[in-house]
Amino acid sequence: MFKKLVDSLTTSLKLYKKGKQPWPEGEAGLQVRNHRQMVGGKWDEVGLLQFEFMKNQGLLPHHVLCDVACGSFRAGRFFIDYLEQGNYLGIDKQEVLIREGRAKEVSEQLWAAKQPEVIIDDKFDFSRFSKRPDFAIANSLFSHLSTADIKCCLRNLATHANPGCKFFATYILSDIPLIHLHASHSSRSFRYTPEKCCRWDVMPAGRPNISVTGTIHANR
Ligand SMILES: C[S@@+](CC[C@H](N)C(=O)[O-])C[C@H]1O[C@@H](n2cnc3c(N)ncnc32)[C@H](O)[C@@H]1O
Repeated sequence: MFKKLVDSLTTSLKLYKKGKQPWPEGEAGLQVRNHRQMVGGKWDEVGLLQFEFMKNQGLLPHHVLCDVACGSFRAGRFFIDYLEQGNYLGIDKQEVLIREGRAKEVSEQLWAAKQPEVIIDDKFDFSRFSKRPDFAIANSLFSHLSTADIKCCLRNLATHANPGCKFFATYILSDIPLIHLHASHSSRSFRYTPEKCCRWDVMPAGRPNISVTGTIHANR
């Protein structure tokens, strides 16, 4: 018990110190790293991993998919190609990532043919989309968010998703509860226990149409 507490405080302090000087976000971020690096690199590997994972979960071209925190379309470029016209919904808070992704990662022809709906928003306002998703994915988002922001994302998605929507989010597992003192940030690391993640599952009480059911690369 005492050892657990010490471990928890040590790791929390380590993450706090590390989080004091995160990589910059937005335009300033692009001065020091390119858009691929800003979302974590491993461009083809992690993009394809998400795409194959969602197809294995039952994603078909006629479904509507929301790519929550789509970044520069690391996976989005595969989803846009695969889904029927207008069925890809992307949301991210960093305009710069969407701009770079659109200019450098998705061809103009594909964009024109599939007409993805992409919005810049940091409050998870899914009501801005014209469609409701049947599937949603958030890769490497919850690993950078505080509990309050994760709850906001889940609540809003539960309200604006189609009944039965399947949502998959990655998160970094910790075997001990940690204290996160910083605010959410794309370059800070937030880790949660499985028990905590299970509580997110039932979080949007009364809206059983959504659950956090998958992890793609937990424990990184
Ligand atoms: C590690 S990147 C992953 C991007 C993408 N899911 C991928 O796999 O390439 C994390 C993304 O979360 C976005 N993000 C962080 N907080 C957000 C928020 N509150 N609303 C929308 N996007 C957010 C960042 O801008 C960044 O694009």
